[in-house]
Amino acid sequence: MRVSWSPEAMVIGLPSLDQAHREIVLLLSALTTAIEAAEPEAAGIAAAEFEERAGHHFAEEEQLFPFAPRHDVLHHRRAHRRAMKVIGLIKAAVDARDMAAATQVLDRLGPTILTAMLTDDSGLAAELHLG
Ligand SMILES: [Fe+2]
Repeated sequence: MRVSWSPEAMVIGLPSLDQAHREIVLLLSALTTAIEAAEPEAAGIAAAEFEERAGHHFAEEEQLFPFAPRHDVLHHRRAHRRAMKVIGLIKAAVDARDMAAATQVLDRLGPTILTAMLTDDSGLAAELHLG
């Protein structure tokens, strides 16, 4: 599944998070392109960039948790950990030059990221607006 940035569907109303999400979706798209083109070097670079940006973004989001006391932070933290695990699987598949396996895991990551933005992240944004 190819994910592309869609402001109508993805903007949650917190500019810093929206900007990070946009970058992450663009990096995911670059990673998908490299994997589909079966270019292990480009895919390796894209996977590392994606992992770094996602990890940084998750940490930034978690710094907002104390300001959203009603937000389900345990669930949200678990979602971040799961996403990092899936990204690790993609990196491992790319490093092993197994593009079929990388594609399989990538197909799971797209919907996971979309769901996270629409549930955990917009829930967090709503709590921060209320607080
Ligand atoms: Fe997020």
